[in-house]
Amino acid sequence: MLTPELEAFIVRMPKVELHLHLEGTIMPRTLLELAQRNHVEIPARDIEGVEQLFRYRNFGEFLTVYMALVRAIVYGEDFERLAYEAGIMLAGQQVRYAEVMLSPMQHLLRGMDMHEALAGTIAGFRRVERETGLLVRLGLDYGRQYGPELAWQVLEIAQATMSQGVVAWSIGGNEIGHPPEPFAEVFAAASNAGLRLMAHAGEVVGPTSVWGAVEALRVERLGHGIRSVEDPALVTYLREKQVVLDVCPTSNLRTGAAESWQRHPLRMLYDAGICVTLNTDDPTFFHTTLIDEYRKAVCYFGFNADDLCRLVLNAISAAFLPPPEQALLLRRVTRELTALRSELGV
Ligand code: ADE
Ligand code: ZN
Repeated sequence: MLTPELEAFIVRMPKVELHLHLEGTIMPRTLLELAQRNHVEIPARDIEGVEQLFRYRNFGEFLTVYMALVRAIVYGEDFERLAYEAGIMLAGQQVRYAEVMLSPMQHLLRGMDMHEALAGTIAGFRRVERETGLLVRLGLDYGRQYGPELAWQVLEIAQATMSQGVVAWSIGGNEIGHPPEPFAEVFAAASNAGLRLMAHAGEVVGPTSVWGAVEALRVERLGHGIRSVEDPALVTYLREKQVVLDVCPTSNLRTGAAESWQRHPLRMLYDAGICVTLNTDDPTFFHTTLIDEYRKAVCYFGFNADDLCRLVLNAISAAFLPPPEQALLLRRVTRELTALRSELGV
């Protein structure tokens, strides 16, 4: 039950977000301003019109809206603004560490300079770090529908920006008809270069997609992975190999990846002993915030204060940070959680 004390705890507790697309954080007002300034046609004229677009019957519709709107983001300074606004939004929710993905293909195919986009993004998050202390690391999320051949040039960009905070390599986009296996070589090369590995899998496709991501791509973390519940052997495998599931419940409800809150498998995966983290995915497009996800964990999944702390600690243990930085974050967050729990009596 969401008592006033637990509500206060959720709002004030230190948090970590590991599955967040920068483009999916764009505020409707910013989107309209960028579209106008950059002379990009988008299918909305005002904030109400933008909000109307955020209703999808399925994952494909979500992706179509997403691709249509992100075209408004064109220049390095646009990415800098997005990163700054996203960082301030996260810091305001007491997020202490975040990993943020960019999806380069949709920008590259419009002729954008990804180095300019990344330089802007990095500058925006550096400013946030100076102003709030929020630490951000980046990942590149390659759209699997573009096929493995074009992924190599995106991997080169990832490698070239590792010294500036790019730490992860991932595939996302349309899982249907685009299994993980053809990306095995690209993932092996990314790992050899020192990048950490993730993949969107088990979001709209079942266990075969998750098996492919863990066995052929050797990922440490799965974006969503919720359909793993359909295969008990896979659940055992994920627990034993300590593969992390970055779960985004509201996203799953909004895209139709989950039928209802009652049928969403977050609780089952958590109770099965899998290392689960809680995330927003694309907060603007799914009308959510990280604080809301924590509220829903209580209201729809019966999580208590111990469980909420576990979700945060899971995210720290799954963070793609060097061990000393990870240990520092763990000490700081543990201290904050303990003090807050005793203050609020939760
Ligand atoms: N890109 C942005 N959000 C995504 C999601 N939920 N799944 C796959 N690709 C995405
Ligand atoms: Zn995602």
